[in-house]
Amino acid sequence: MSGLQIDITLDKFNTLRLKSIAKAYIKLETLTELNEIAELSKQYPKFFILGGGSNLILPEYYEGLVVHNHLKGIAIDSVDTEFKTVTAMAGENWDEFVAFCCENEAHGLENLSLIPGTVGASPIQNIGAYGVEVKDFINHVSVFDLTSQSIKQLDNASCKFSYRNSYLKNNPQYIVISVTFKLPRKIKLNISYGDIATQMAAIKSPTPLDLRNCIIKTRQSKLPNPAEIGNVGSFFHNPIITTNDAENLRHKYPDLPVYDLEDKGYKKISAGWLIDKLGLKGYRSGNVGVYPKQALVLVNYEPASKSDILALAEMIKEKVANNYGVRLNIEPIIL
Ligand code: EPU
Repeated sequence: MSGLQIDITLDKFNTLRLKSIAKAYIKLETLTELNEIAELSKQYPKFFILGGGSNLILPEYYEGLVVHNHLKGIAIDSVDTEFKTVTAMAGENWDEFVAFCCENEAHGLENLSLIPGTVGASPIQNIGAYGVEVKDFINHVSVFDLTSQSIKQLDNASCKFSYRNSYLKNNPQYIVISVTFKLPRKIKLNISYGDIATQMAAIKSPTPLDLRNCIIKTRQSKLPNPAEIGNVGSFFHNPIITTNDAENLRHKYPDLPVYDLEDKGYKKISAGWLIDKLGLKGYRSGNVGVYPKQALVLVNYEPASKSDILALAEMIKEKVANNYGVRLNIEPIIL
């Protein structure tokens, strides 16, 4: 195939900034290439789709094929009295897409501003921040099924979205082609999240752009910029535990942030708080560490390898399990 490259460095394609070489690499730029990619994927025992590389832990050598999704394009499909339906191709940068929606009076995604990565990755792990999850605005996802070599549309229900998870995450035979969003035209700002509510209260008649700017400012103050220091955002999920266990922990640790879920039998608790209270914020071991401003984020001071970062993660998991009896799960995909 035309664009196939061998032994390509992935250093610039992962925000954790791990040094990594892929045995084979190819860019996906047009839909006509999908069948060829399906054939190619059969020749490699391992295979993955690369988007913005912001949620990946790469090995030093990846013995497989990397397909780099560069499908581009954004279009407003339809407008009715209530909604604008907008489709973005999978390789579009997520934050640029949010900016486009803000400029085009298609609302709701402001809280998801500045999340690193691509549009195609957004439904896979159901990205979320500041009280909003992308699932609330997705109409359908167009995918290429490598098994049947055909294009399919998965509606919102078929995507089986849950906290940082979806049907797509567990079915890697689907390549996301594009995501179609149904975005309200009427402004309804979601400023329910603690920090954001306080900042927005100071603005008279706030606009969606004000909210976007507030989210950007908040993220920049708490989260490391991957262009400056390697990271994958939150390294662990916030654990979901039984309401009974959450109440017992709350009894012992009254400050522990506990969030309600639709299922009353379970609560979500703050992993960042658990790690912080163990005194690990700012902890450093060799060239990896816990970000000094947000304990849920692990950082690469470079050079470091997959095993360095996973050793740190294991140490944190063990301490959290021993101290609180809570199991942490790693959020990024480990290759
Ligand atoms: N906290 C601490 N110490 C810390 C970190 C957090 O005490 O070091 C406390 C905070 O004071 C706050 C609570 O924990 O009371 C929650 O902290 P924060 O608002 O920073 O959010 P988070 O729960 O740590 C989640 C998402 C982030 C998202 C933020 C904001 C996950 C795994 N992470 O983090 O998403 O930006 O909420 O909505 O759900 C990501 O997925 O990569 C990500 C950055």
